[in-house]
Amino acid sequence: MLKVYLHGNFSISKIVIGCMRMHEFGLNLQQRTDFVEWCIDQGITTFDHADIYGGNHHNEALFGEVLQMKPELREKIEIITKCSICVPNDENPNIKTRYFNTDRDYIFKQVNNSLEKLQCEYIDLLLIHMHDLLVNPKELNGTLKQLKDEGKVKYFGLSNHNPLEFDTLQKYVDVKFVTHQFMLHPLGIENYKNGTMTHCLKEGIHPMFWSPLAGGRIFNPKNAFEENMKNVLESIRQELHLENIDEVIYKWLLKHSSDPVIVLGTGNRERIMRALNSIGGIQMTREQWYKILTEAGYELW
Ligand SMILES: NC(=O)c1ccc[n+]([C@@H]2O[C@H](COP(=O)([O-])OP(=O)(O)OC[C@H]3O[C@@H](n4cnc5c(N)ncnc54)[C@H](OP(=O)(O)O)[C@@H]3O)[C@@H](O)[C@H]2O)c1
Repeated sequence: MLKVYLHGNFSISKIVIGCMRMHEFGLNLQQRTDFVEWCIDQGITTFDHADIYGGNHHNEALFGEVLQMKPELREKIEIITKCSICVPNDENPNIKTRYFNTDRDYIFKQVNNSLEKLQCEYIDLLLIHMHDLLVNPKELNGTLKQLKDEGKVKYFGLSNHNPLEFDTLQKYVDVKFVTHQFMLHPLGIENYKNGTMTHCLKEGIHPMFWSPLAGGRIFNPKNAFEENMKNVLESIRQELHLENIDEVIYKWLLKHSSDPVIVLGTGNRERIMRALNSIGGIQMTREQWYKILTEAGYELW
C-alpha cells in the first residue's frame, strides 16, 4: 500500500478512511476496533475527522473509544482533524447560525476538545476546514505556532481554500501547509476549472480529494447530466474490464501528476478493497481521462 510523503518524513496512506459517516457504519465498539485494525492491516493508516462530524459532533469520540480500548494503535496511525466551521449543535448552544471562525481562542478550544474526544495526546494533521473571510493571518500564525510548540499538532494544512486564499495564508503563516483537502469527483470539477489543481502542482502539494464518489450520488443519478456521466463511466469500466465504476473514478482521480490522496466515505470492506486495488494495475488512457473531464463540463477550448 502506497504512502504519500507530505513533508519530510511525514506520510499518510494514499487511501484515507473518512470518518464523517462513521456513525452510519453501524458498528459497535468491538466491530469499530476490528475495522480500524483491518484497515491498518491493509496499509490504510490515516483517518480523516473533523470536529463537526457525526450526530452532535460525536464521531471523534467514536474513534476515541477505539483508541481507549487499544492505545497501542495510536502509533500505527495518522489522525487528521479539522476546525473553523461553526454550526448549531447541542455542545455549543451559543452558536445560532452557520459561520467560520479562526480566532485563536476558538481554535484552541476546538483542538483541546478534539484531543479529549479522540483520547490522544496529539493530532498528526490539523486542517483549517473552510476559509474564514474574517481571518487574521498574523494571529493565525501565532496560534498554529503555539499548537505545534505545545506538541498538540504536528502538521497543518488547509481545506476548501482557493489558490489566492491558500497563498495569502501561507504568506503569513510560518509553518508549511502540507496538504490541501478539497472536493473532486466526476460530477464536481470546479477545482480543475478554478486553478486549484494546477496550484497543487505549482506548490508541490499532494491534494486530498473528499467525496470522490459524489457522496454516493454517482450511483443514483438524479438528472440527465448525472445519468450521462454514469453511462460514460460504465462504458470505460467495460473497456478497462473493471468490476465497478468506483474503480474507474478512483483511477481517474489518481492519474493527476500531483500524486493525490483519496478520502473514502465508505466503511464497506469490499468497496475499500476496490479503492486499494485501483492504485496501480491497468492504467486509464489519456483519451478516457479527458472524456470524463469534458463530459463533466470542462471546455478544452
Ligand atoms: N474537507 C471537507 O470539507 C470534507 C467535506 C466532506 C467530506 N470530507 C471527508 O471526505 C470523506 C468522504 O466523503 P464522502 O463520504 O462524501 O465520500 P464518497 O465516497 O463520495 O461517498 C460515500 C457514500 O457513497 C456510498 N458508496 C460508496 N461506494 C459505493 C458503491 N460502490 N455503490 C453505492 N454506494 C457507494 C457510501 O455508502 P456505503 O457506506 O454503504 O458504502 C457512502 O454513503 C468524509 O468521510 C470526510 O472525511 C471532507
